[in-house]
Amino acid sequence: MLGNFSYHNPTKLYFGDDSLKFLNDELKNYGDNVLLVYGGGSIKKNGIYDSVVEILKSNGKNIFEDAGVMPNPTVEKLYEGVEIARKNKVDLILAVGGGSCCDYAKAVAVSANCNEDPWQKYYIRFEEPDCEIIPVGCVLTMVGTGSEMNGGSVITNHKEKLKIGHVFGDDVMPKFSILNPKFTFSLPKYQMVAGCYDTFNHICEQYFSDDDDNTSDYLSEGLMRSLIKSSRDAVVNPENYEARSNIMWTATWALNTLVAKGKSTDWMVHMLGQAVGAYTDATHGMTLSAVSLAYYRYIMPYGIKKFVRFATEVWKINPDGKNDEQIANEGLKAMEAWMKELSLVLKLGDLGVSEEMINGIADATILLNGGYKKFDKNDVINVLRASL
Ligand code: NZQ
Ligand code: ZN
Repeated sequence: MLGNFSYHNPTKLYFGDDSLKFLNDELKNYGDNVLLVYGGGSIKKNGIYDSVVEILKSNGKNIFEDAGVMPNPTVEKLYEGVEIARKNKVDLILAVGGGSCCDYAKAVAVSANCNEDPWQKYYIRFEEPDCEIIPVGCVLTMVGTGSEMNGGSVITNHKEKLKIGHVFGDDVMPKFSILNPKFTFSLPKYQMVAGCYDTFNHICEQYFSDDDDNTSDYLSEGLMRSLIKSSRDAVVNPENYEARSNIMWTATWALNTLVAKGKSTDWMVHMLGQAVGAYTDATHGMTLSAVSLAYYRYIMPYGIKKFVRFATEVWKINPDGKNDEQIANEGLKAMEAWMKELSLVLKLGDLGVSEEMINGIADATILLNGGYKKFDKNDVINVLRASL
């Protein structure tokens, strides 16, 4: 394990097909005014809205609604939510939806009592909140981002063509999250597999770094193996509770800070994906899947030992009689085959990206240096071109 670190995760989880009832217990900890945040209406179709509202009402809460949170929530929507939260003096923000609703709830939570422009303060200057933060709770309906147990909050600014995430601290992380795998049954397949790949890539971002023997990498390998099996099962039968519950639990642990402990981390696939998202508004997981194979093939020579380990431990490639490069390549081929089985988007062209957009996307890509290869703009352009 490298470096010094502390570990604490303040989010309380309730997991299982009976977990929504624990909302009753949690609501007792907060004041009367609840801001109910949700998306474009899926929760009204599948009945989750009715169940949540019933619990809020039976606990005597005043419900203020903030609906229409779009996938990849925008800065304009954030300003709107801040006004609703301010006007109604909300005591709790309850996000019912996927990562977009959870991320958005956190952004409103740190902005409602702040006099500065939240976009400039948190997403451009990356400052920390210095105002009162409204507590956030989540009822998760889409799996992948890990937002239910982390401080991440990603906001898109279409005018500036920027999609930026701020990872806030413990005091912004959800106070509680309710994870009922059955709530994910109604997800369209496109969203389900995008969420599976988002989860997988979160693990990769934390796995492909450093050369030491590190417990975090063993945890990551276990999570990846569980996810590969369960995603295959869920594609065959989306109502396979065993598979969907494993996917849900894996997604949470993939990005709740645990597997990053004692490591540096890469996150360049996410930086590429976010820049693509700013230009296309495409589904987050698909922006990652579209650039991943080109990215990992590009950096493989710089971290060959870890790619060999990825091939043998995660994809069970038999190393006998092969050199490192052959083994590593076979690992990435196995990953590609799995991605095809899931029908993930494998080319940027399929998300509407064209050669003329490459330079702008490269400019919007934030360069990080925790992975095996330190990227410059030229490297970004090479990977984007190879992904077209
Ligand atoms: O809006 P509704 O009608 O609810 O439909 C949603 C939305 O269209 C639908 N959906 C959700 N649950 C459903 C359902 N449809 C049927 N049945 C259900 N049970 O799914 C669509 C996508 O939802 P969304 O919340 O946008 O997806 P996701 O969870 O992938 O969140 C994406 C956002 O999270 C950010 C992404 O950048 C993106 O903005 N991320 C947040 C991270 C974090 N907090 O740490 C990290 C991630 O890397 C990611 O960047
Ligand atoms: Zn992600």
